[in-house]
Amino acid sequence: MCGVIGFVGDEASPEFFYNGLKRLEYRGYDSAGIAMLSHGQMYIERAEGKLSALEKKLVHLPLKTSLGMGHTRWATHGKPSEANAHPHKSGNIVILHNGIIENYKEIKSFLQENGYVFESETDTEVAAHLLHYEFHKNTILLSPLENMKRSIFALVSRIRGAFAFGIICTDIPDVLFAVKYGSPLVLGLSDTAHYMASGIAALVEHTRSILIMEDREIAYLTAKNKEIVTFEGVPVSRKPIHVSWAASMLEKNGYDHFMLKEIHEQPQAIAQTINGRIDKSTGEIDLQSYGIHHIPLKNINRIQLIACGTSYYAGILARYFLESHTKIPVEVELASEYRYRTCTVNEHTLCIAISQSGETIDTLQAIRYARTHGAHTLAVVNAPGSSIAHHCHDESLIYAGPEVGVASTKAFVAQVTSLIILGLGIAQTQNIMTSTQIAAVCEQLVHIPYLVEKTLSLSSSIEKMAAKLIHLKSVLFIGRGPQYPVALEGALKLKELSYIHAEAYAAGELKHGPIALIDDEMYTVCLAPRDSYYEKTMSNIEEIRARGGKIISIGTTGDHELKQLSDEFIEVEPCAEMILPFLTTVPLHLLAYWIALKKGHDVDQPRNLAKSVTVE
Ligand code: AGP
Repeated sequence: MCGVIGFVGDEASPEFFYNGLKRLEYRGYDSAGIAMLSHGQMYIERAEGKLSALEKKLVHLPLKTSLGMGHTRWATHGKPSEANAHPHKSGNIVILHNGIIENYKEIKSFLQENGYVFESETDTEVAAHLLHYEFHKNTILLSPLENMKRSIFALVSRIRGAFAFGIICTDIPDVLFAVKYGSPLVLGLSDTAHYMASGIAALVEHTRSILIMEDREIAYLTAKNKEIVTFEGVPVSRKPIHVSWAASMLEKNGYDHFMLKEIHEQPQAIAQTINGRIDKSTGEIDLQSYGIHHIPLKNINRIQLIACGTSYYAGILARYFLESHTKIPVEVELASEYRYRTCTVNEHTLCIAISQSGETIDTLQAIRYARTHGAHTLAVVNAPGSSIAHHCHDESLIYAGPEVGVASTKAFVAQVTSLIILGLGIAQTQNIMTSTQIAAVCEQLVHIPYLVEKTLSLSSSIEKMAAKLIHLKSVLFIGRGPQYPVALEGALKLKELSYIHAEAYAAGELKHGPIALIDDEMYTVCLAPRDSYYEKTMSNIEEIRARGGKIISIGTTGDHELKQLSDEFIEVEPCAEMILPFLTTVPLHLLAYWIALKKGHDVDQPRNLAKSVTVE
């Protein structure tokens, strides 16, 4: 999704905007641009491709400015190109945009009939010219500032879709305008400047005082002041939050890639999610610390987990533990499909949005739908101050720290950890489990970081194994019980990083069709640790071998029988069954990382993908 950064204040260099956009690269993009106002003249440089292409053009920008913006574009309307890159200009007005203008075609025709000539294929250029059209309709001699305010109201009343706009007008050289509807936008506050960005990551090295804009809001920012109003012109007063993320957390800290760093941060991500929320000696779950302040857990008799992608798989995995601990039925729903069914929730339903970014539009729309139908809503998110959290009754942060790699890794294990803690909290509240029983589960929980840490030592052996697998064209993943969602997660990681086709199946489903795919070229990743499902999974492996299929297995240390059946064998420590999925996930993340790297792919920004999907 597009990255946006804006500045108004004492002074900012081209590098300020460039570095801010670097912090937003994880959002996914295919072109970029910067606009800087200097001595009444607007300077704009844009480039197709990665930021390195734009870097070569920074010399054409002024050395400093008191007002400017930067943008990384993830193409929606119009191919990646310099002409389609933002910012877009229309006379004295420059605009950049994250989102989609759904009715841009009808407005474009209107503007063309009024003499506007378009240079790009984008919907954003329509907004630029429409704003220009409104600004120059000024018939009652308003000041440029009042005229721009009026023009923005006219703009937002006419366009439909999702938009986070940054706007500069050369006639108003000390004001940065920010507009938010449907796409994320945050403001940074300091004594000498004000900032706007599509993500906190772009601002934490400049300020930790962050104000989250809400839908239907417009901000007028100057060096010293900020004013926020609604689309109806109603003044808004909101306290900023203090973000604890340090800029250093956004560095690679010695790792070659953010993804590898984040895989290795999984132990601490799990530990930080647990920290302060459980007492393993007493079995006490601290639900206040977890983030439950408004939801009456004692009344809940149904749970829906709503998410996309990896977060959806975290939900499928967590369901095993939630149902086991609470005895409450748990449904796991694809957010993008959720609204197409009749919503049957009520005041006894807890709908949980699972989202690393907290900005996934499908999940946001689904949880809002659930809330309007009377469900209690909880956001289990990683990024603080997110849109999804804003629309839920309660928010529980997973404290995994910034996840920059597009492929989600540490968030996955932290989300599952969080949901296990929630399940214990519900079991405590509803007296489903005794404190002794809860303490026993907590004892297992606190061991997970240590065992995950040990499993990370597999990285070098998996790197060697990956070199033998880069030629693969298609891979199956199978698992039973909690290992099934791990198989789903492993297949997604391989797909999204190595571009190798991969499919996951519940192992029991193999004989219902997919086994037809088995031949001597087909590799199957089999998750077969010594758990309650081991014998049956071993039968599946025998069936694959009998048809000449290749086996990459993940099993328990010392399992010589499994090793004999496998072309490649990865072993994890014997441990309690609840911990096993955490351990089998790690080698799958590492395998996808190493295969993709050996194929020469950009593992932090795989093609076509964005870290946070904020368009439907
Ligand atoms: C995971 O590796 C993918 N990047 C993607 O499936 C992601 O999990 C999905 O888009 C949901 O993102 P969220 O957790 O930020 O809502």
